[in-house]
Amino acid sequence: MKAAYFIKPFVFILFLLPALYYFYAVYLAFNGENILGPDPAQALSLATGEWSIRILVAALAITPLRYLLNMPKLWNYRRMIGLFGLFYVSLHLIVFLMFLLQWQWGDIGREIVERPYITVGFTAFILLLPLGLTSFKAAQRKMGRNWKKLHKLVYGINVLAILHIIWVVRSSYFDALLYGSLVFMCLGYRIMRNYIPAVRRFIILK
Ligand code: HEM
Repeated sequence: MKAAYFIKPFVFILFLLPALYYFYAVYLAFNGENILGPDPAQALSLATGEWSIRILVAALAITPLRYLLNMPKLWNYRRMIGLFGLFYVSLHLIVFLMFLLQWQWGDIGREIVERPYITVGFTAFILLLPLGLTSFKAAQRKMGRNWKKLHKLVYGINVLAILHIIWVVRSSYFDALLYGSLVFMCLGYRIMRNYIPAVRRFIILK
């Protein structure tokens, strides 16, 4: 049997593990045991936010890595990783609505309007939805060239996510700097590949 048959389920489980851990932590919290530290709601919000950006950046890095490392098979993981990005951002939003806003629906609109970091985070989430909904092969076939155009939104989404993180940060800018640099490099790669013929030739030759 080919190793590839095992790699995909393995990667799937790997990306699912953090969510399973936090589901378990919430289950324990509802049963009177806290493993999330002094402020469980904030810990959950930070953790789901961290996993969201890690996975979104991983999805963004697939294209440059595929060419630079000459690993065309990486492409097979792009959709799964992108959908995991949407999954973790959705969890992050649910944690915000459930534990920070306590389902006070009336407050959501106000939060989105009054807090710029929520405005940009929420915009990134809304923009991710059409990408998730059209990530399947049938949609890709039906949309043709428009599919590619739509999926370029992923760059804007990552930039909004970085803005969100910069705005949220209270103590250390390490995450903003780390993920910001990675997004910047992926964007830089894209721009160079598209607009500098010598770079384009070099990448294609590889
Ligand atoms: C692409 C979308 C998003 C990404 C990648 C993301 C990522 C993150 C990250 C990494 C943090 C932690 C920042 C730190 O290190 O201090 C964070 C914090 C936070 N995010 Fe998001 N976020 C996104 C969307 C949203 C949305 C849609 C909401 C709510 C409507 C939201 C609400 C929050 C809140 C309230 C915090 C602060 C948690 C606290 O300190 O108590 N985020 N986000």
